Amino acid sequence: MAAVETAMSMSDRSKARRGAFFGRRKGHALRPRQAELFDALLPRLAIQLAKPAPPDLKLLFPNPVDSIRLEIGFGGGEHMIAQAEQHPCTGFIGVEPFVNGMAKALAAINLKNLSNIRLHFDDAVFLLEWLPSASLAGVDLIYPDPWPKRRHWKRRFIQDESVAAIARILRPGGELRFATDVPDYAAWTLKHLIRSPDFAWTAERAHDWRHAWSDFSATRYEAKARREGRVPCYLIFRRTDDGRWTAG
Ligand SMILES: C[S@@+](CC[C@H](N)C(=O)[O-])C[C@H]1O[C@@H](n2cnc3c(N)ncnc32)[C@H](O)[C@@H]1O
Repeated sequence: MAAVETAMSMSDRSKARRGAFFGRRKGHALRPRQAELFDALLPRLAIQLAKPAPPDLKLLFPNPVDSIRLEIGFGGGEHMIAQAEQHPCTGFIGVEPFVNGMAKALAAINLKNLSNIRLHFDDAVFLLEWLPSASLAGVDLIYPDPWPKRRHWKRRFIQDESVAAIARILRPGGELRFATDVPDYAAWTLKHLIRSPDFAWTAERAHDWRHAWSDFSATRYEAKARREGRVPCYLIFRRTDDGRWTAG
C-alpha cells in the first residue's frame, strides 16, 4: 500500500489548487491483493510525468501499437478494459485519481494480462500538459462528474481551457468522445465544443446523440442511468486540421 500513499501525497503536494479534480480519492480500504497490485503493478504501468515524454509516444508500450487513445476518469475501468481487449494494436492511457477505481483496473489488467494499457493515477490535467502535441488518436470522457449546481459548473471537466488542451494533443481527424446522462452537461459540452475552432461535431442526423459508438461498453454509471430511467447522450467531435501538424 506504500505506493498508493506515495503517489497520492506527491500529487497532492504538486496540486496546490491547480487542476480539475474535486472528488474524493479514497473509498473503502483495499483488500490485500489490491494493495499488492498497487505496489507491484502500478509502478510498472504508471507514466512518469517527471521525465519528458518520449519522442514517439508509442515507445511507452512494450509491444508495437498503431495509435494511442486516452480515457479520462475511467472509474472502474469497464470501458477502457473492453477497448484494450477489442483493439490489441492500440495503446491506451487511462487516467483515474480514485484509489478504488484504479485498484479495479489493475486487477483486470493483471487478470487479462493486457500489455496495451498505461496509467496515470492523478488528475488528468497534469497528463494533458505532459502529452506531446498531436500525439493521440482519441480521447474518451465517459460520464464525467456532472456538478449540477450552478456554483459548481466551473468544476466540470469540460471548460474552454480543457477543450483547448485536448485539441492540442489530438491529431487532426482524432476524436473526442463524450457520454453523459445529464442533459444540462450534454448541452454545456455541445456549447463549448461548437464554439471551439478546433472541433467539428460529427452528428449527421438529429437522433445521432442517442447512439453510442460501435465499440462502446457500458460502464456502471451508464447501467445506473438506464436503471433510473435517464437517457444517455453520446457526442463525438472530430479534431479539425489547422495545418500546423505534419505526420512524423
Ligand atoms: C461519474 S464517474 C464516471 C466513471 C466512469 N467513466 C464510468 O462511466 O463509470 C467520474 C470519474 O471521473 C474521475 N475524475 C474526476 N475528475 C477527474 C480529473 N480531473 N482527472 C481524472 N479523472 C477525474 C472521478 O474520480 C470518477 O471516477
